[in-house]
Amino acid sequence: MTPPLPLIDQFNRQITYLRLSVTDRCDLRCTYCMPEKMQFLPRAEVLRLEELYDLARGFMDRGITKIRLTGGEPLVRRDVMQLITALGRHVGNELEELTLTTNATQLARHAADLALAGIRRVNVSLDTLDRQTFARLTRRDRLDDVLAGIAAAQDAGMQVKINTVALRNTNERQLPDLIAWAHHCGCDITLIEAMPLGKIDEDRADHYLPLTAVLDDLERRWTCVPSAHVTGGPARYFDVVETGGRLGMITPLTNNFCSGCNRIRVTATGQLYPCLGGGEKVDLRAALRSGDPAGNLSTSLDMAMRIKPERHGFRIDRAGQTPAQPRHMSVTGG
Ligand code: GTP
Ligand code: 5AD
Ligand code: SF4
Repeated sequence: MTPPLPLIDQFNRQITYLRLSVTDRCDLRCTYCMPEKMQFLPRAEVLRLEELYDLARGFMDRGITKIRLTGGEPLVRRDVMQLITALGRHVGNELEELTLTTNATQLARHAADLALAGIRRVNVSLDTLDRQTFARLTRRDRLDDVLAGIAAAQDAGMQVKINTVALRNTNERQLPDLIAWAHHCGCDITLIEAMPLGKIDEDRADHYLPLTAVLDDLERRWTCVPSAHVTGGPARYFDVVETGGRLGMITPLTNNFCSGCNRIRVTATGQLYPCLGGGEKVDLRAALRSGDPAGNLSTSLDMAMRIKPERHGFRIDRAGQTPAQPRHMSVTGG
């Protein structure tokens, strides 16, 4: 068998990681992510599960070795386990890893099947352990379901990484407790700077919290030793001596990491976005539904490599409040 022709962009970055959004829908409405009355993509435009599988196969044929399913919330898509099970058969062959980013509201129900399908770690988005803050922030009172989901994932043998968006005046003061809790539960935790993606009901500048400030604060409390740990993601890690756990920082605004980018994203309607923070895109659905899906898909991926930008252009300032990108994170895939 000939080795796959690698995907290499014009800045000589090899792309080995696909983040595939299986739905833009979600059962939460996090205030920094989407407005209360979010307009979701028309269902008729969303790829069928078989098409998502074929798409993923096409990426594997071009050297993609890691696939993360995202959304929206991937587990709200009906029958998504069929796709996960089918993709899971490639783990240990073409795929080094198949994984999932989830809000965990429905994780308890799916944990055993996910583990069976070959998923060894999941990233769970959780911004607070306080029930009222959770209900306000996500506009839904579902904290207990999320905590049950995390416990079930661990019981099923999966590693859980917690992802937390750091928000001024919202969860800012709770971050040390959340980090200590995650480490106590045996989870890594990564803090993320809020990115200006899509219109929301609030002013993003009111909640933006630079992680430089958070780290300064944490270092007054704990010893945070920079770690050599890398996952292939954009997080820089620290070992927290007092808790014995690992803390990641994803800093698109205060410390750009684009030079090491190894990823591309595909939406549930088959639009490939080579950058989370860019407007460049390639329509893979057209390729998939053409007379020569495999050939046209591969050509489309070459096109994506030519247009992948060097870096995102995110900026949060009071003067220019327009989001850098009109697309919400839930569309492009978190
Ligand atoms: P690991 O494999 O666990 O390292 O995953 P990861 O960090 O690649 O994925 P995860 O889903 O945990 O990503 C967490 C968050 O980081 C995402 O939801 C995004 O907010 C952000 N993020 C991930 N990749 C990128 C990227 O390429 N650019 C930017 N700006 N943000 C990213
Ligand atoms: N900026 C940063 N992170 C975001 N997420 C959703 N919207 C944004 C945003 N605008 C996060 C979620 C979750 C992941 C999928 O993306 O909290 O951790
Ligand atoms: Fe849903 Fe994630 Fe957006 Fe929250 S951040 S509304 S969980 S997609």
